[in-house]
Amino acid sequence: MKFPDGPKTPALLQSINIIVNPLNYLEDCAKRYGDMFTIRFLNYPPTVFVSHPQAMKTIFTANPQTFNTGEAMKELPTAFSGENALPLLDGDLHKHRKKMLMPAFHGERMRAYSQLICDITKQQMTQWKKGEQFHVQGSMQDISLQFIIRAIFGVNEEARFQQLNQTFISLLNLMSSPLTSTVLYFHALQQDWGPWSLWGRFVRLRQQVDDIIYAEIKRRQDNPALLGEDILSLMMKARDEQGEPMKDVELRDDLMILLLGGHETTSMSITWALYWIHRLPQVYEKLMAELDTLGDNPDSSAITKLPYLNAVCHETLRIYPPTILGAYRIAQEPIEIMGYHFEPGTYILPCIYLTHRQEDLYPEPNHFRPERFLDRQFSAYEFVAFGGGSRRCIGYALSLFEMKLILATILTNLKLALPDNRVIKPVRSAFTVAPSPMYMIPA
Ligand code: HEM
Repeated sequence: MKFPDGPKTPALLQSINIIVNPLNYLEDCAKRYGDMFTIRFLNYPPTVFVSHPQAMKTIFTANPQTFNTGEAMKELPTAFSGENALPLLDGDLHKHRKKMLMPAFHGERMRAYSQLICDITKQQMTQWKKGEQFHVQGSMQDISLQFIIRAIFGVNEEARFQQLNQTFISLLNLMSSPLTSTVLYFHALQQDWGPWSLWGRFVRLRQQVDDIIYAEIKRRQDNPALLGEDILSLMMKARDEQGEPMKDVELRDDLMILLLGGHETTSMSITWALYWIHRLPQVYEKLMAELDTLGDNPDSSAITKLPYLNAVCHETLRIYPPTILGAYRIAQEPIEIMGYHFEPGTYILPCIYLTHRQEDLYPEPNHFRPERFLDRQFSAYEFVAFGGGSRRCIGYALSLFEMKLILATILTNLKLALPDNRVIKPVRSAFTVAPSPMYMIPA
């Protein structure tokens, strides 16, 4: 079997490039080798990167049995979530678990979250002082973490909420450091040398988060009257094909992934959106004109249907998708992708960032231009911020809903400015590509 061409440098160098400087490295590879190229990572078989919409279509529409994902994900998320989490499952296990989780993220449930999102956003805004800079990422993370914790656990008691919030923030902060995020990629470096060592601190904080999660599960098991409409309760009430509920460890592993997935990606996207809206006056004016049509106290469905706000959110997720890569797909049977024949066992990675940089689809791809999404409709293989097929992000509707409500709440209540019209650049964070530190000033 012939792999597509790719860099010839040692695997260690290729791994470092993808960790330290992913966007430039991926763009360089695409320029040199085209839409499909092979990168060699340390400890991994050669990985074929694909980005052409036709390749995305082949992958996303393939029978779910054609690819496994879980076995390739074992290194990184296991450290955080354990091996029972949804992204680590394959085949029927993955299909059935996803079916059990989906209802908590769709349809009617969205509307139930709208008041919570607006209240948390308004509460956060009270901390921004007129004329004083505030750190946008920090504020957006506060909002999205508070929201996801309350949506998952329905924690109304302030003390229990604060305990989980603080512990989880400490864990995330530790993981965001470049050193820890590197350690997360290399199993051999994950050594507990005591509470002061990097991995020792990680393990202890993770244990604290675990203890809180298991206590929340137990409270509901001991008193079923507490089973409400929060995501954890819905997960505990769900039954698989055999009528069995999820085990405690499965609940715990999935909750860790939901906390992580539901928090950083969304908050970074809202930060980017605020940047573009305030960096480009024409975008701000057009959006404000649209928001003005809503009148006082609009309901959430009116906000989510606004076409220009929708276009701004999509363009934000297009230009710098928070997850630049989709999940691994390991071929389980021979598969042909754009003329290349791949044998079972081939590692394939959908490269979201490069799909969104295709010039013929998105002319002048480095320009933020929401109008693209008004002028034409992109297919599920052209706009791929949430991946696709059986692995598509479970939180896509929730995060778009959250983005729109938070942006509308901020913009209709406050005028913000970017100090010195500073340029914000994408930088690598623990699991995403995030905006560089950004500050804004309430006028
Ligand atoms: C802007 C926000 C978000 C973006 C850009 C994003 C992006 C992604 C991407 C690219 C994938 C992999 C899909 C694939 O390879 O086909 C994924 C999977 C996943 N996401 Fe998200 N995500 C976001 C928000 C969320 C939220 C809010 C949650 C939950 C609360 C979440 C939970 C998950 C889970 C559990 C998976 C694994 C799905 C599976 O294995 O079947 N994500 N996400």
